[in-house]
Amino acid sequence: MPEDSGITTLRITGGRPLKGTVHVRGAKNFVSKCMVASLLTEEDCVLHNVPDIDDVRVVSELIHAIGGSVTHEKDGTLRLSSPSLTPVEPRTLKKIAGRGRIPILFAGPLLARLGTAMVPNLGGCGIGPRPVDFHLQALQTMGAHITDIEGGYLIETEGLHGAKIHFEYPSVGATEQVLLSAVRASGITELTGAAVEPEIIDLIAVLQKMGANISVSTDRTITIIGVEKLHAFEHTALTDRLEVASWACAALVTHGEIMVTGARQLDMMTFLNAYRTIGGAFTITDEGIRFCRGDAPLAPIALETDVHPGFMTDWQQPFVVALTQAHGASVIHETVYEDRFGFTKSLNDMGARIQVFRECLGGRTRCRFGQQNHFHSAVIVGPTPLTAADITVPDLRAGFSYVIAALAAEGTSTIRNIDLIGRGYENFLDKLTALGATIEPL
Ligand code: EPU
Repeated sequence: MPEDSGITTLRITGGRPLKGTVHVRGAKNFVSKCMVASLLTEEDCVLHNVPDIDDVRVVSELIHAIGGSVTHEKDGTLRLSSPSLTPVEPRTLKKIAGRGRIPILFAGPLLARLGTAMVPNLGGCGIGPRPVDFHLQALQTMGAHITDIEGGYLIETEGLHGAKIHFEYPSVGATEQVLLSAVRASGITELTGAAVEPEIIDLIAVLQKMGANISVSTDRTITIIGVEKLHAFEHTALTDRLEVASWACAALVTHGEIMVTGARQLDMMTFLNAYRTIGGAFTITDEGIRFCRGDAPLAPIALETDVHPGFMTDWQQPFVVALTQAHGASVIHETVYEDRFGFTKSLNDMGARIQVFRECLGGRTRCRFGQQNHFHSAVIVGPTPLTAADITVPDLRAGFSYVIAALAAEGTSTIRNIDLIGRGYENFLDKLTALGATIEPL
């Protein structure tokens, strides 16, 4: 991994098609939450198909800090044990503040086990303000008292109770917060406006294995009947559909052919349709999905990012790079995050023609960011040859999209801060090398 090896800068010489096979393991955005779910029981839990990525290491550190243990075996098996837990010390809290989005999800299990939780201020990718108001309001509605403390929040309860909660926007993290808090609360919780991403459904599957009673209705309502005790689970994580899409775009942009073993069609139907629309080709087998270009030149598209089953916001960045090679003008309306097109500036420095707009373009007439000062629509005019540049990675997904752009560019690019990519992409340097990329870590 780049962080372990101390590699933060990468030189990439473009122009070679990526060809070969990569294996993608469990979803970062499920595995980390499943690790938190293990804290809901005193019994030992086992999770398979866990990638070796920084986010797993950060959550492991947090679990250690409250008295639990985590062992990650080479084959991807994670063994989690927390027979007893202790409150986190304030100095540890300061150390972990700003490291990812997961710490706030510790609230539910800690409240169930200890009646008190200290949660640090969150970090994660710099892609907008990313508030946690839904999380805090949900916890309060279920009977938690929240006090601001230096570096985070002190959350206390004499016992969480079921409640009726509504989210104005189907937040992934806040839905997980309600699930992880309500499973051991007394009574029934009814959450309306819930997110139903495949990673959330897999988390519900794990909680069901543990003894929880959770039902999901077609109208985004999740009903949780609280239980006093939960038990061990053994589970295999669903594949990371964000990483799969990243390799799919790499195949398209470099005129290559990549077989992604582990890829699951069902979680990626929306992406696959968009991929086919712009001229990508794929073959689905029992082992995974093979991605390459179709026979015709790449075509433009108008789409908007959305919650599941829409086109994921995390597919947007590598897809934008592919669209720089499409013949015509493409439009992308980002409706999940208000500030997720900052990365396009460096692509323009490489020769792309991408213009960002405050207006809601390319789909729904007005999203919640419309008529505000957020540049949340982009028009990409292609095809534009890309040329090498010296660029700095701003966040995880944008980082991988820069790698793809550099692989397609003429000349040798220098990409800095690549350790950020290691937060969510397992062994990506080895995978790139295996696919024939010309890369030189500095
Ligand atoms: N929101 C609020 N208030 C809240 C929570 C969210 O207004 O209390 C808003 C956010 O500001 C944002 C929208 O709701 O505009 C969606 O945020 P959400 O809570 O759904 O995102 P998240 O849980 O913080 C997870 C993933 C993201 C992924 C989003 C959407 C993890 C650790 N992160 O974030 O993944 O983009 O869901 O699918 O699960 C990534 O992997 O690179 C990544 C950013």
